[in-house]
Amino acid sequence: MSSLLDAWKKGEWGLDAQTKEGNTLLHFAVIEDHPGLVEQLLQKNAKILPNQWGLTPAHLTQLLNRLNPLRPQEERSILIYRNRDEKIHPMPLKEFEERLEITYTDSLIFDSIKTIHQVAKKCARKMQKKELRQMNHWTLCLHKSHMGLPREDLYYIRWINRYLGYGVFAAKPIPANTYIGEYTGIIKRRNNRKNRFNDYVFSYDLCGKATRWCIDAKHTGNFTRFLNHSDTPNLTSRWVIKDGITHIILFSNRFIPQGAQMTYCYGPWYWRSRSAPAPL
Ligand SMILES: C[S@@+](CC[C@H](N)C(=O)[O-])C[C@H]1O[C@@H](n2cnc3c(N)ncnc32)[C@H](O)[C@@H]1O
Repeated sequence: MSSLLDAWKKGEWGLDAQTKEGNTLLHFAVIEDHPGLVEQLLQKNAKILPNQWGLTPAHLTQLLNRLNPLRPQEERSILIYRNRDEKIHPMPLKEFEERLEITYTDSLIFDSIKTIHQVAKKCARKMQKKELRQMNHWTLCLHKSHMGLPREDLYYIRWINRYLGYGVFAAKPIPANTYIGEYTGIIKRRNNRKNRFNDYVFSYDLCGKATRWCIDAKHTGNFTRFLNHSDTPNLTSRWVIKDGITHIILFSNRFIPQGAQMTYCYGPWYWRSRSAPAPL
């Protein structure tokens, strides 16, 4: 990066010039976490271009959880049901994070740029298969316009009891096939022995096949980490590749009446090392 930066300063490297992998100076400023340089490049009207994996500097800012001018700042609230007055209240995200001792993220966060590239490479390879590409196309047709947009109006979080903990409930009637959200957290190498003691790990499958990674939402995640398990769930989880990266999304598989608990099936592996789930 420093040699590119020097070359740019000397006028030997264009503002929007790309390396053979398609990375621009702005990509490197994000990867190497230089928010000041990101700002400087944006002031000079640097273009936000995709690299060979289709990843733009703005996308990398999200995936690497960087704080820089490419990241929108938003004031948000989560709906919480208070058992004390039996009413639903909006709670600012900051307060929610403090009370529940989690960091809220609506985006996947990768532990390194190396993992992002490994995942992007595998996704590109999978998309060469016609049937997987078609399946992905249909999932995107149904849900792409809602992906990445928070849907806080659809649900509230409620404490159920000491056995089940919290759960997620429908704040309004939800039609079938409604996009609910993405299972977010930290993408890291899976460790099956450790994961037996972590209730918030979701397998990071690529096109239905297990990989060496998992999504860990124990300390960093969104409302989906509070969804409980059911053998007859009203939500379905599905893989989808968007902008070159796999995401695990959840959508309603039938009409969900207002006030009903939203659940998905964790799969048989989850319960192998735990006592049997309560019927929900
Ligand atoms: C991903 S968390 C779900 C959110 C959790 N209720 C909370 O308050 O953080 C998974 C854990 O919730 C509990 N859980 C979820 N579904 C359950 C069910 N059907 N029966 C019993 N426990 C359940 C189990 O303790 C499980 O390990």
